[in-house]
Amino acid sequence: MMTKITTLLFLLLLVGVTITMSEDEEKSEGSSSSSSKLFLMENSKSVVKTNAGEMRLFINNDDKFLDRIMHIGLINMEPRSLFVPQYLDSNMIIFIRRGVAKLGFIYGDELEERRIQTGDIYVIPAGSVFYLVNIGEGQRLHVICSIDPSTSLGHTFQPFYIGGDNQQSILGGFGPTILETAFNESRAKIQRIFKKKQDGPIVFIDDSHSPSLWTKFLQLKKQAKVQKLKTLVQSQDEDEEQKQTSWSWRKLMESVLGKANNIENKDRADSPDSYNLYDRKPDFRNAYGWSSTLDGGDYSPLKIPDIGVFHVNLTAGSMMAPHVNPRASEYSIVLRGYGRVQILFPNGSNAMETEIKVGDIFYIPRYFPFCQIASRNGPLEFIGFTTSSQKNNPQFLAGAASLLKTLLGPELAASFGVSEDTLRHVVDAQHDAVILSSTWAAPGGPGGGRGKKEEDVLHVETKGIEDLVNDVVMDVFE
Ligand SMILES: *[C@@H]1O[C@H](CO)[C@@H](O)[C@H](O)[C@H]1NC(C)=O
Ligand SMILES: *[C@@H]1O[C@H](CO)[C@@H](O)[C@H](O)[C@H]1NC(C)=O
Ligand SMILES: *[C@@H]1O[C@H](CO)[C@@H](O)[C@H](O)[C@H]1NC(C)=O
Repeated sequence: MMTKITTLLFLLLLVGVTITMSEDEEKSEGSSSSSSKLFLMENSKSVVKTNAGEMRLFINNDDKFLDRIMHIGLINMEPRSLFVPQYLDSNMIIFIRRGVAKLGFIYGDELEERRIQTGDIYVIPAGSVFYLVNIGEGQRLHVICSIDPSTSLGHTFQPFYIGGDNQQSILGGFGPTILETAFNESRAKIQRIFKKKQDGPIVFIDDSHSPSLWTKFLQLKKQAKVQKLKTLVQSQDEDEEQKQTSWSWRKLMESVLGKANNIENKDRADSPDSYNLYDRKPDFRNAYGWSSTLDGGDYSPLKIPDIGVFHVNLTAGSMMAPHVNPRASEYSIVLRGYGRVQILFPNGSNAMETEIKVGDIFYIPRYFPFCQIASRNGPLEFIGFTTSSQKNNPQFLAGAASLLKTLLGPELAASFGVSEDTLRHVVDAQHDAVILSSTWAAPGGPGGGRGKKEEDVLHVETKGIEDLVNDVVMDVFE
């Protein structure tokens, strides 16, 4: 159901798109380097790095064009390694890019353990204690995660490690007596654990070395693990002035472990299952590729962080028709192949046009028109996260399912300053929808060429932008 305002918005957008397309004809190939990478997330830092694995965080600080910030994290873990129990001050969605893992997490009062594998999505709400073990035989584990810092203390997220050495553990500051009691272990043993210099929060759990606290932890029965995690957390409570941040994480913990005590009568944890993105039937498919979206209606845990997930695969040389997301911003990471992406400002001027390749992360603010194009040499596959768990209704600006087609009539023709026939001719020429074949895709490397021109473009030089906008406004409000 489109209101007049949204109709107006889209009209403005498509006027913008059209104008840019025609202006592009005159412009030379290369766009200015400063703006050409505006929405590529290139700044990353290694937040965890040990022999057993690494977590790299791509940080987004754009509060100019985005209403809601997301960071993207990449985790690599060696075989037989553990990402130690922790909780975050941010909601996190994990996507298993490759490998097999055991995810342990506290849900209600229970410890749940899930085997998750390639293609699986799982939501870890802020404040939930979890750990991740790579159980793939001789296989590295690759995880892509979206981190929604809206509940976080600062701008980026903060992990709270329950274990590790003095430097990193939230337990690090406790005196030996508290730890002795909490762990029911001799002081000597405790000291051996906490004094032992750990590499960091990703550790090997290989039995061949002296068994670490974590190897032992993983060997415990479920209930005993919960008990251990709870004592770890509760012992923290007893020492209130210990850390400046104590109020914040305690508050978080109360919402997880604290409240759990009130619902102890629950028979069984009904914690959600993971959802496999690769098992999902695409929502759209044609000869040029397919796309699949996962919203809160398909997988309700996504409603907690209010985030959606999508997965797109374009065949060689195909393009996603220019479209806008009226409901959400989206973040993409290229999983395979290379291609191009172009993003426009809502006023129609070019915001970013750049080559993309495996591993590139880019985002598209809400209302910004954009399209992705696969190189001619192979398919382009990407997944991503949107800032809404509601059904995302992308509005296509070209193709058989486009807004132009829906709005086609004398008013629209007048707003472009052409006859209805001329407009119809242009709009009807494309018989395919959503994913289109493109003859001018980048041939494969940098500096892809462009060929197809005139027939796809409406020429509007005869009218100024202001006139067009005025016409559109009049049309809509008459
Ligand atoms: C502490 O450990 C001893 C054995 O070392 C055991 O007998 C005792 O029950 C344990 N206490 C608790 C509270 O787990
Ligand atoms: C993407 O499409 C290509 C064919 O264009 C296919 O070979 C590949 O397996 C697809 N990728 C996925 C993840 O389905
Ligand atoms: C369009 O908007 C962008 C971002 O707000 C701005 O930088 C650019 O100058 C605008 N272009 C025109 C033609 O108004």
